[in-house]
Amino acid sequence: MSSLTNKRILLGVCGSISAYKSPDIVRRLQDFGAEVRVILTSGGANFITELSLQSISKNKVHSNIWDKEAELSMGHIELAKWADLILIAPASANTIAKIATGKASDLLTSVVLASKAKLILAPAMNQQMFNSSAVQENLKHLNTRQINIIQPDSGLQACGDIGVGRLPDSTDIANYVAKQFESTQLSGKNVLVTLGATVEAIDPVRFISNHSSGKMGMALVDSCVQMGARVTCVYGNIDVNLNVKAINIHAKSAIEMHASVMDVIDQQEIFIAVAAVSDYGVKNPSKQKIKKSGNNLILELTPNKDILSEVCKLDNKPLSIGFAAETQNTLENAKNKLKNKGCDAIILNDVSNTEIGFNKDENQVVFISQNLQENIAKNSKTNVAEKILKIFIKEFL
Ligand code: CTP
Repeated sequence: MSSLTNKRILLGVCGSISAYKSPDIVRRLQDFGAEVRVILTSGGANFITELSLQSISKNKVHSNIWDKEAELSMGHIELAKWADLILIAPASANTIAKIATGKASDLLTSVVLASKAKLILAPAMNQQMFNSSAVQENLKHLNTRQINIIQPDSGLQACGDIGVGRLPDSTDIANYVAKQFESTQLSGKNVLVTLGATVEAIDPVRFISNHSSGKMGMALVDSCVQMGARVTCVYGNIDVNLNVKAINIHAKSAIEMHASVMDVIDQQEIFIAVAAVSDYGVKNPSKQKIKKSGNNLILELTPNKDILSEVCKLDNKPLSIGFAAETQNTLENAKNKLKNKGCDAIILNDVSNTEIGFNKDENQVVFISQNLQENIAKNSKTNVAEKILKIFIKEFL
């Protein structure tokens, strides 16, 4: 996964000759895994067409705040809330001045005012304009408001001048954006995550398993990697792509998962048990396919080891987070699991709610520790994972 996976980037394109580079900026952001939507100002539309940006971004380009249909499908406030980050590249002197003075005279500046997302400006203009005291003072002022400015490159300009004002290379701009989401909060930490469903063989053909897709666990793996951790991922049956930056170990049954975890646990500082581990395995699974006989078939099940509990009993136990998949008395059951398993935090997942949890892209959970109970509102599993880790880091690291 790339560092902009699942990130929503709103690209503002203003009136500058370098607007012709904007489709390439969209592409480079997509290479990092971002979803990109574009706002094209009327000035920008003199240099690049909506159709080009729509074709590349694969989203309708937004341009007019008074467009009734556009406001119905995704209004400017929704657009402002949609964005994780707003990048204006190229940013013209005019748009820079409007943002510096808090104007909302077009769609782009209105969205900027209405959004809580981080804002990055990549100014591009004639070198004389860029060096003018008006532009420089506006940029200095924007800097004091924590708005990031990507310094333009120096060189030969479209107008024939030589100086500072060229839009940097698209890859450099995309890298700059990706860096905004990098964090070093788990830098150098070894983190082990279990995820997915275990599979308990009945015979060579049939098995007992569960609905876990591994999506929540993989979102945690991805977030830990992004925060700088060395991640080991012990996974069962999953329906998601592995993170190539993690050490990935496949474990089929609960017994295999237990063995794989115990093999590497003494190197770990953090253990996150997201796997839906089968509590029981089949005693003496048949080596041959069981033939139907017309009579009742009784399977004898034996309890599997509780991996999380076993880890929490170790002398050099890592900081441990468990998940509690519950359908009733959810808070009470989750708090009991926190206590009984001896972990540091437990994430309550109400799996009776069919809109979230198993196999869904969104989740809504409660972070519970000895001293804390915090609701994490319904959001993508990626964002829920980030929030879980942020709360955990704040409380325990
Ligand atoms: N877990 C584990 N090993 C098991 C069972 C569960 O490591 N054999 C971990 C899960 O990964 C999860 C937590 O324990 O982090 C709770 O799992 P859950 O299925 O909610 O609860 P159980 O302990 O299995 O209890 P019950 O099924 O009775 O609710």
